[in-house]
Amino acid sequence: MFSIETKRLILRDYQEDDWEAFTQHFKDPLAQDGILSFQSGDLQIMREFEIGLMLAEQNPRLGYALAVVLKDTGALIGSCSIGGTIAGYTQTSMGWHFGSAYRGNGYATESAHELLRLGFQDHGVERISARCFANNVASRRVMEKIGMTPHRSGLLARWLRGATYGENKPIVQYRILKSQWFLNQSSEIAARSDEESALLLEVRDRR
Ligand SMILES: CC(C)(COP(=O)(O)OP(=O)(O)OC[C@H]1O[C@@H](n2cnc3c(N)ncnc32)[C@H](O)[C@@H]1OP(=O)(O)O)[C@@H](O)C(=O)NCCC(=O)NCCS
Repeated sequence: MFSIETKRLILRDYQEDDWEAFTQHFKDPLAQDGILSFQSGDLQIMREFEIGLMLAEQNPRLGYALAVVLKDTGALIGSCSIGGTIAGYTQTSMGWHFGSAYRGNGYATESAHELLRLGFQDHGVERISARCFANNVASRRVMEKIGMTPHRSGLLARWLRGATYGENKPIVQYRILKSQWFLNQSSEIAARSDEESALLLEVRDRR
């Protein structure tokens, strides 16, 4: 089973008994503004979950759909995903969804940082994008915090993007190139103390 640790989280493949928490997060009334209309339907939830289980069986894998678990308590607090991780893919996208009880703690950002690392460092992807409704301030903020910038986000592009998902709502797209991500990593390391930098590099090289 794929499993990776960040400072506070474990990102791992779904297991059969994650189903209840997974469903709850997508059915949560407080989540509905942020997700596509069809994403809270029973069939779609089941489909997403099955895809996660199926990806976990692949080698090499087409992508990762991961449960996000709190190290401290073992609670399943959300999920995140990245596609296009099979050799030959150069561009891909990623996404995230967290239970409303766990928001505002930086967990989505912490997970998203790890997805970028997985895509760029482990799988050689060149460009990663993410999309959300234009009014999803929290999700846009996550994209900004991980170094993504808006791409083709004029008014028409936003509305057309929404329409391709069957939504009468504008959708924005952010993206980041591998070269930019590496630059961001280097400046982050440079900004830390020598001891912290050495530790960070050691962890990075171990992966
Ligand atoms: C979007 C979502 C993933 C964010 O998760 P999270 O764990 O709360 O995200 P983080 O804590 O890492 O970061 C959220 C940021 O948005 C900011 N934010 C949240 N709501 C905000 C608001 N209404 N106005 C301004 N900023 C807001 C937070 O302050 C934080 O930024 P900061 O660290 O600079 O203070 C989560 O809210 C979610 O799952 N929502 C429902 C489903 C959804 O929208 N999924 C995304 C579909 S693309």
